[in-house]
Amino acid sequence: MTLRLDHFIGGTWSAPASGEYFASTNPATLDVLYEAARGTDEDVRRAVAAARSAFESRQWRDLTATKRGHLLRRLGDLVVEHAEELAEFETLDNGKLLREMRGQLATLPEYLYYYAGLADKVQGSQIPTSSITMLNYTQREPLGVVGAITPWNSPLTLTTSKLAPALAAGNTIVIKPSEYTSRTILRFAELASQAGFPDGVVNVVTGFGNEAGAALVSHRDIAKISFTGSTLTGARIAAETASRFIGSTLELGGKSPNIVFGDADVANAAMGVVAGIFAAAGQTCIAGSRVFAHRSVYDELVERVSERAASIIVGDPLVDATELGPLAFGAQLEKVSSYVDLGVSEGATVRTGGGRPDVDLAGYFYSPTVLTDVDNSMRVVREEIFGPVAAIMPFDTEDDVVGMANDTDYGLAAGVWTQNLARAHRMARRLDAGTVWVNTYRAMSPMSPRQGFKSSGVGIEHGLESMHEYTRLKSIWINTDEGPVSDPFVMRG
Ligand code: NAI
Ligand code: MG
Repeated sequence: MTLRLDHFIGGTWSAPASGEYFASTNPATLDVLYEAARGTDEDVRRAVAAARSAFESRQWRDLTATKRGHLLRRLGDLVVEHAEELAEFETLDNGKLLREMRGQLATLPEYLYYYAGLADKVQGSQIPTSSITMLNYTQREPLGVVGAITPWNSPLTLTTSKLAPALAAGNTIVIKPSEYTSRTILRFAELASQAGFPDGVVNVVTGFGNEAGAALVSHRDIAKISFTGSTLTGARIAAETASRFIGSTLELGGKSPNIVFGDADVANAAMGVVAGIFAAAGQTCIAGSRVFAHRSVYDELVERVSERAASIIVGDPLVDATELGPLAFGAQLEKVSSYVDLGVSEGATVRTGGGRPDVDLAGYFYSPTVLTDVDNSMRVVREEIFGPVAAIMPFDTEDDVVGMANDTDYGLAAGVWTQNLARAHRMARRLDAGTVWVNTYRAMSPMSPRQGFKSSGVGIEHGLESMHEYTRLKSIWINTDEGPVSDPFVMRG
């Protein structure tokens, strides 16, 4: 019988009010892995109530920031202990390479440790106002119940980026994981409980976006929504949260440029381009999907990238030698394959890939694909494909490439390959992207803040700045003058 997973609410497993479950499959084999509870309004209400009562409990409210840090550190230790199990399950659920998920699980505890350390370093300040008898100071307070809605591509990492600062700051949380990858998030909540977080501090309601997700976003007791996913869903969430005057942190899509100058080490740059678009089968928000090569190295770069792309080993993501696994679900495969067809109909040339590879498994595999004869006016270059499809374009001058690179609705990340130091800094300044990498791609750290510009998002994840996303600033005035109140009809300061 198929394994059935319930919601995790108030520290215990909780069957869905609807009584319904939905299947999660392994995209490499199409085997059903387990069934998760199909969350509805009623489940969300219970989870938010549990989170609210945990937030108001003395047990959580009176815990010092240092002690909250201890709990996060313990959770980090438990993740270390269970890393292999968690990595394997993420691979089974979303098809990403086990190598990649092991790497993610190895760094994930660092996020928990980093915010554990920051928990008791969030400070207010004392402000010199215009009156020496007034003491004015600020303090940063938790918001309340945070709703976290997360995607399937890096389930635990992207959930931890929200949970760690939210809990460090003293909030409680209700997580709605992607319907494609519920399992490791449920296990993570169980580990949080084991680490000693009081019941109700971490809750998980599984289910679909338009049911459980929408119910969470519209719940009146939610103080903030933190979301990672598509720009379309992000726009809906932004509208709903704005109408209730609550904040949202939105980490959305991208169409990031990866720019290779004539003075770059072309062999290295080619590897950087391959890493940028074919790692994780291109299913990352930061994918370097638009490649710009200086005309002097264009042919060589296209050649090198296409050659490496054609030799990528596609297959079972559990096998060490595999370099590219399946796409995460059927709709992803359809999306990628219809975009490539669209590109061809728009005039693109397929240098390599462009179809399904010959793989011994039934899953949603698609070949690494390189398109040339493309330009910024085509939909394959303007829209996020979220798959292993690179579009390579030539450019002549630095001004030209800055213009083309910035001519996009998105602004998440950008890569620059050059040996010229002045140009590297100049490009970093001129590119309209929240993260710029020079002679590298896909570098990330809990300490480094990241933010999407333009349609790639609102708000900051990682770094000290992200703690502030989960607090509100209060200004407190104390009159230290015990004398009589003078003129009551004027403002004081
Ligand atoms: P999505 O944005 O629909 O889903 C992300 C999360 O939001 C999931 O947990 C989903 O259940 C939830 N959700 C969906 N509709 C919702 C609603 N109306 N209210 C509240 N929550 C809702 O993305 P999906 O369908 O998983 O992937 C589609 C495309 O989105 C991808 O092909 C890719 O282009 C983009 N995407 C970008 C990601 C990123 O890292 N920036 C991650 C995942 C997807
Ligand atoms: Mg799955």
